[in-house]
Amino acid sequence: MQTSKITVIGSINIDLVTGSPRFPQPGETLLGTSFERFMGGKGANQAVAAARLGADVCMIGAVGDDGFGKEAIAHLRNEGIDTTHIKVLPDLPTGMANITVANGDNHIIVVSGANFGITPADIEACEAQIAASDVILSQLEIPMECVIAAAKLARKHNKPFILNPAPAQKLPTELLELVTLLTPNAYELAISLGLPEDTPAESLIRKSGSAVLMTCGKEGVMYNDENGNIHRQHGFTVEAVDTTGAGDTFNGAFAVFSSLGMEAAVRKANAAAALSVTKAGAQSGMPTLDALEAFLAKQDD
Ligand code: RIB
Repeated sequence: MQTSKITVIGSINIDLVTGSPRFPQPGETLLGTSFERFMGGKGANQAVAAARLGADVCMIGAVGDDGFGKEAIAHLRNEGIDTTHIKVLPDLPTGMANITVANGDNHIIVVSGANFGITPADIEACEAQIAASDVILSQLEIPMECVIAAAKLARKHNKPFILNPAPAQKLPTELLELVTLLTPNAYELAISLGLPEDTPAESLIRKSGSAVLMTCGKEGVMYNDENGNIHRQHGFTVEAVDTTGAGDTFNGAFAVFSSLGMEAAVRKANAAAALSVTKAGAQSGMPTLDALEAFLAKQDD
């Protein structure tokens, strides 16, 4: 059975996306090939991914009291997401992400704005929402103390707390001890643990002391079990147009299917992430449940 109630605590951004033949060198000016505006933010992306797959999703976060904020809330509502707990902050702009896409890959600079205006007290005010959820999902585009406040409430109410530690930063031990599952890529796990970036992936997972589901791009994922064994599961090959939001799609989908067990949930999340990269923009390619099942029905395994 799918997880029904998911609360996402995280960022809401407007993505300003420039297509380029390649990434510029420092000091270099390049002629771009396209410019588009999309809805984004790791939190909002994960919320939309989960809602498209049929979950009952509530988003906790903040936007500015500006046109972009209004647009972002209207968009999330349109995706069927409960926006009751999104604060509109008068003195900060809505979060913006400056994204360059070249050869299917991306560079992202986020200007957090209102995302960094929420406080632990705002999270604590949502205790009833957290207590009524099946899974809590968060990332690191909001203040660390808010993530910790959310993790504490999840623990208090015995709810799984999934943390996608992106963008990468060293995680306080207090937070690591509260997390049910960490979902980094290899670089993010190294930074999260304060270990050298070239530490081999398996070694990072073993040293983490946590349950880890590591995303490895088109190679799929690696994860550990309660006995310390490390498992690998392959991803699906598709023609990538824009990989922005692939990790977010994976996280949102994994949260939806987490009650199916690791192997089944990872397979569906890998498929959702693969579909997401076939269109431009973080959210455009995120599949509905029907689209996901149709894609999986065509796969050999
Ligand atoms: O993970 C992709 C997202 O990162 C983008 O939508 C951008 O807003 C940044 O938050």
